[in-house]
Amino acid sequence: MLTNNVERILIDEEKLMNRIREMGRQITEDYRGKDLVLICILKGAVIFASDLAREIKLPLAMDFMAVSSYGSSTKSSGVVRILKDLDQEIEGRHVLIVEDIVDSGLTLHYLTENLMTRKPASLKICTCLDKPERRVTPVKIDYVGFNIPDEFVIGYGLDYAEEYRNLPFIGVLSKDAYKK
Ligand code: IMP
Ligand code: MG
Repeated sequence: MLTNNVERILIDEEKLMNRIREMGRQITEDYRGKDLVLICILKGAVIFASDLAREIKLPLAMDFMAVSSYGSSTKSSGVVRILKDLDQEIEGRHVLIVEDIVDSGLTLHYLTENLMTRKPASLKICTCLDKPERRVTPVKIDYVGFNIPDEFVIGYGLDYAEEYRNLPFIGVLSKDAYKK
């Protein structure tokens, strides 16, 4: 079964949806009248971004970027590569990066440096989850869904070796599930 390797549920569907509704309300207030571009970081943020976008009651554009910092392991390599770049220009526009989780911070550190060179009007970060204990590089996060402890989580877009993204909740991966 899909849920066999879930040790426990950390954030259930209802809690996720309630928090995302709140975040959407806040973002709606903050970006009213602005040319907003949501940048969804593939693949992990795709489910969060889809739900969040529908809670932002403003005209907006969505674009996608794919970067790699993880292979099939649970540790960051520290190397960030752009696998897919934006389709749209962001110069002069208000950009909000939408991430699934901030762990070491390496991915977002790289991304913000990269996107700033394109001269957006503003650049902010929104993440569903944050593991502050794990930070290696400081990053300023503007919107955080939930702070979580240092455990490897799956579901709601987050994978382990490309599986479990379709779980509707955030769960802790059980220790026996790690492939050696
Ligand atoms: P960072 O560069 O270390 O901050 O890593 C960010 C990326 O690592 C996230 O966008 C996720 O794709 C992945 N990641 C970090 N922690 C977890 C986790 O607990 N479960 C699944 N993926 C994770
Ligand atoms: Mg990610």
